[in-house]
Order: sequence, then structure tokens, then C-alpha cells
Amino acid sequence: MKPLLWDRPPACRRKTSILAALVLTLAGCARHNALPVYGHVPAFVLSSQTGAVFDSKTLDGKIWVADFFFTTCMGPCPRMSAEMHWVQKQIGDLPDVRLVSFTVDPQQDTPPVLAAYAQRFRAEPGRWFLLTGSSATLNTLDRDAFKMGNVDGTFVHSTLFALVDRRGFIRGYYHTEEGESLDPLIAAIRRLSGTGLRPVSRVHDLPAVNAVLNAAAAVLLVWGFALIRRGRKRTHRNVMLAAFTVSTLFLICYIIYHAQAGVVRFERTGPIRTVYLTILFTHTLLAAAVPPLAIVTLSRGLRARFDRHRAIARWTLPIWLYVSVTGVVVYWMLYRM
Ligand code: HEM
Repeated sequence: MKPLLWDRPPACRRKTSILAALVLTLAGCARHNALPVYGHVPAFVLSSQTGAVFDSKTLDGKIWVADFFFTTCMGPCPRMSAEMHWVQKQIGDLPDVRLVSFTVDPQQDTPPVLAAYAQRFRAEPGRWFLLTGSSATLNTLDRDAFKMGNVDGTFVHSTLFALVDRRGFIRGYYHTEEGESLDPLIAAIRRLSGTGLRPVSRVHDLPAVNAVLNAAAAVLLVWGFALIRRGRKRTHRNVMLAAFTVSTLFLICYIIYHAQAGVVRFERTGPIRTVYLTILFTHTLLAAAVPPLAIVTLSRGLRARFDRHRAIARWTLPIWLYVSVTGVVVYWMLYRM
């Protein structure tokens, strides 16, 4: 009879459970992220219908629905605002959900005008914010972040509602036209809300996991090199195999993250952007060379072809090390700086 997992020898059991944990972790990463990520909303400061300063920090940790409108609109805006009121009713039991309507006509839509409009559509104070302020800020949000129109005097804006998660990532766009159901929006809000911060954050925690894996690979590579310089061949072999495993894990997590999050852009401008793009370019170019170089180097080492192993390893090691270290730098510049 085939032995059960726990009847097998400890080494085999350990390998099987590591593999099982890995598969479960990766499955966990993928399972929770059916809502795609369309981009990130930058920080902003505007004014609300009460005339108070509205800092986007107010929305940190909240799930929110955004739309763009203007109060004198004779077209779709009144219908959209009526639908926003409907959404307000549906999410009455969810204290962490906010509604945010940005005007595309800040000249006309002053706080008192917005206050009258808010009253007309029975916007709940503290729940539904109607925002106005600098055209430049509103334009950055409308055109660049949400990609839902322009605040340039043309009054052109999308009739979509956008859903933003607790960390400011745009997770969906929903049609509001006549005959379109907003049930999918409510379902998505409940999903984000019911799951709280944890599952949503999982995919967004992956860049940090990736940075740790890159840093670990760099440490292992330096250690492996130090070992062979001291003639410790067996430990060198094991440490280099560990570096290869860690980098393979990184590659898997990297693919999972970018399949979910898409391309994450570096928002800053000026010289720092040039520095970032230079590091990113060299990092990406050399990263493509690492898998074939590492595989050939490993295989020559494992087949005891040490002369040839040494010849290629002198290229593999510095390139791999550069890619691992710049991987951490890119992470830090993109997500932490
Ligand atoms: C891809 C992973 C590996 C890298 C990056 C790597 C890197 C290196 C480097 C840079 C050297 C030359 C050190 C020097 O110039 O003093 C070297 C030598 C050596 N490596 Fe590796 N190594 C790897 C995997 C392995 C494996 C799996 C083995 C298996 C036994 C191995 C066995 C050796 C041996 C025996 C030497 C000494 C060769 C000699 O001096 O002729 N290496 N390795």
C-alpha cells in the first residue's frame, strides 16, 4: 500500500509540505483578486459642499464610488446623481463606504451651489461628498487618474461610476445609462467591504514580498561567492541552489502581481524620473539574461564541469546580483519613496 504523507520519511514529508504550502499561498494570492486594478488615485485637496477643506486622507481605508458631473448639466448628470442616491440607499448598512462626486465646472459649482444640489439629491452628510476646487487638481483626477474626461471648460465627462478600494486603487467602472443595472457595483462594494483590508491587500503586498525575495537572492549570491573563495564547495552549491529557488519564487510572484495589477507607473517627474527609468531599463534588460545564464551555470556546476562553470559564473554572478539589488531599489522608488 502507498504510504500516507505522514508515514513517509521526514525529508520527503518536509519537501511535500513546503510544496503544498507554496501552492496554497500562490492559489491564495490569485483567488482573492477577481476585481482588476485599473490605476491609483493620487492624493488631493479640494473643498466639499459644506465649504470645508476636503483632504483625500479622509478616504484612506474607505471604499468609495466616484463620478464626474456639473450642477447646470442638462444631460445625464441629474440621472447619475439620482443613481448615486440609489447607491447611497443600498450601502446604508456599510459604514466604510463613501460617495464622491467631482464637479467638472469648478467656476460655477462653488460650495454653496454644490450644497443646494446635494440637498436636491438628498446626499447624506459625511457619506456623499460633492467636491470642487482647483481646475488643475480636478483635471488631474478626471483626465489622468480616472480617465473619465477633462476639466478644461468643455464639460465633457464620462457617465461611468468608478469604484475605489481602501488603498486608493481603482477596481471597476460601472455604466449608469438607462437600462443598465448597478447591481454589479453594489456586489463589488459588498465584496470589498466584506473582505476588509486583508484580501484586497494581498496582491498589493506582493511587491513587498518580491523585494524581500530579491534582497534574499542578493544576500545568498554574495554568501555563495564568499564560500567558494574559501573553498567550501558543497555549501557553495547549496547556497547557490537556494538563490536560484528564491529567484524562481520571485519570478512567480512577479507574474501573479502584474497579471492582477497591470503596469504600475512611476508618478514623479524631474531628474528622479530619469534616474528611475535608467535603473528600470538596465534592470529589465539584464533580468531577461538571468534565467538562461543561471540555468547554464547551475547545470555546469551540477555536472562537475567546473572550468566551464567558472567561466560563465563570472558573468552570471554580477548580472544576477545587479538585477536582485536594483529589484529592491525599483520597489523602494515605486512604492515607498
Ligand atoms: C547559478 C548558481 C551558481 C553561481 C552563480 C556560481 C558562481 C560561481 C563563481 C562566481 C565561481 C568562481 C569563483 C572564483 O572565481 O573564485 C564558482 C566556482 C565554483 N562553483 Fe559555482 N556557482 C553556482 C552554482 C554552483 C553549483 C550548483 C555547483 C555544484 C557543485 C558549483 C560549484 C562550484 C565549484 C566547484 C567552483 C570552483 C571551480 C574552480 O575553482 O574551478 N557552483 N561558482
